[in-house]
Amino acid sequence: MKFLAALSLFSLASAIPLKQRQSDDAPFTLNLRWSNSPLSGPINANGSQFWHGKDTASFCPENIPGCKTVNTTSFVGRDGQLFLNTGVPGGQQVYVSPTGLLTYTVPHSANIPEGSLTDLEVFSTNNFINPFLTFHLCSVDQEDTQWHLVLEYTNATTGSIVNSGYTENNACTRVSLEAVPYEGDTAWEFS
Ligand SMILES: *[C@@H]1O[C@H](CO)[C@@H](O)[C@H](O)[C@H]1NC(C)=O
Ligand SMILES: *[C@@H]1O[C@H](CO)[C@@H](O)[C@H](O)[C@H]1NC(C)=O
Ligand SMILES: *[C@@H]1O[C@H](CO)[C@@H](O)[C@H](O)[C@H]1NC(C)=O
Repeated sequence: MKFLAALSLFSLASAIPLKQRQSDDAPFTLNLRWSNSPLSGPINANGSQFWHGKDTASFCPENIPGCKTVNTTSFVGRDGQLFLNTGVPGGQQVYVSPTGLLTYTVPHSANIPEGSLTDLEVFSTNNFINPFLTFHLCSVDQEDTQWHLVLEYTNATTGSIVNSGYTENNACTRVSLEAVPYEGDTAWEFS
């Protein structure tokens, strides 16, 4: 509540009205777009990273009545930040780790490492997640069947552009992520 009050004072002071975004809290999947590869479809949460070629890992604790097993990874946007669409108290926030991996917080922890990026707004003009960011899918296996999401970034010390998913023995392909409305069940938590 204190935070909300401070926020509205700030927006009055800056004389820029907070734009009410209709899409806030409406769940969506994030689907691959504009890839040079044949890869397509939604990205899946599994083991704190996002994947093409791995199934969604969701979890129902035994003490949650009516908890449904969900095999689709869906998201909600809030105030320019991105969260997994979950029931677990505290939620699960999506962020870019300091080494450029698209990551999410584990249940019951809000811990996000220093140097991470949390500005992952879905732009209401085109439904793309922050199109100024450079997303790649990089394969992690010899057969290029499992790919994780990695963001290119500039090393602040050396100025060089880093893609920490690229190993010289694998494949990386640039992708964009488009929000597509999701009407299925909400997962309790993703693991
Ligand atoms: C998560 O990925 C691992 C490794 O590929 C896989 O074995 C596991 O089945 C996946 N989890 C789910 C729930 O599919
Ligand atoms: C997801 O679950 C639905 C409903 O249980 C099922 O029909 C579908 O085949 C599942 N998809 C995957 C990829 O496991
Ligand atoms: C940036 O480059 C320096 C020097 O090579 C390296 O020690 C550091 O780990 C790099 N940081 C990141 C975040 O890549």
